[in-house]
Amino acid sequence: MEVNKIYNEDCLAGIKKIPDNSIDLVLIDPPYDICTSGGKKGNGKIVKDMMKLEKELIDNNLTNSFDIKILDELVRVMKNINIYIWCNARQIPMYIKYFNLQLKCKLEVVIWNKSNPMPLYSNKYMSDKEYCLYFRKGGYCKPKNYEDAKSVYISKINVADKKIYSHPTIKPLELIRKLIRNSSKEDDIVLDCFLGSGTTAVACILENRNYIGFEINKKYYDIALKRISEVVKEEDINE
Ligand SMILES: C[S@@+](CC[C@H](N)C(=O)[O-])C[C@H]1O[C@@H](n2cnc3c(N)ncnc32)[C@H](O)[C@@H]1O
Repeated sequence: MEVNKIYNEDCLAGIKKIPDNSIDLVLIDPPYDICTSGGKKGNGKIVKDMMKLEKELIDNNLTNSFDIKILDELVRVMKNINIYIWCNARQIPMYIKYFNLQLKCKLEVVIWNKSNPMPLYSNKYMSDKEYCLYFRKGGYCKPKNYEDAKSVYISKINVADKKIYSHPTIKPLELIRKLIRNSSKEDDIVLDCFLGSGTTAVACILENRNYIGFEINKKYYDIALKRISEVVKEEDINE
């Protein structure tokens, strides 16, 4: 399978073409297992914004949990287990069971703390954080400075990037670059099976890593292709 290429296909089919023990780092952001509200009470702007986001996630198939079979394939293609997985609280037990209890991996948790969450806290805490679980067994984690070693990343929800790249769950590029710097070396191969708007591929280009990406949705695949080609062009100009 060619590296530095993204593929518009279901990752469960695409990953079969990747040889065993060939990937240095996996960084994935699969669809979250979301329990939708089914209609929140209230007519205020915040509730309306929340309902709009929920509808966008459902319409674009971003709320269905994914097929757990992909985990066996990811383990097959990694040289050593070295994997970051974005998830919500409901999915944490499933990953702990698979990677910690069954495969005896080490676990660390990286948190993206959003400094401007929607102020919704009726009978609950606010949605001001996202979890990224890091499992490794012989994997590589060598932050090179104090900032890179921090496990909590604080930033605003990137409304601008969401608008530019039209993806409702885009992750902060700087944070993804940091994870890649910390857990891979230059020229390593990084795999993202749920590429969305292409954040991982762009981070790899900027950090001199190779990438392979899968995105099932043609609309997001096209956005990622465009984003990647713009970054490659910029890099060429700066060289
Ligand atoms: C949470 S989003 C990833 C967002 C990404 N991290 C970013 O910064 O743009 C998950 C993506 O996985 C894609 N996806 C869902 N199931 C897939 C599958 N079986 N194979 C490939 N892509 C899939 C969705 O279309 C969605 O764009």
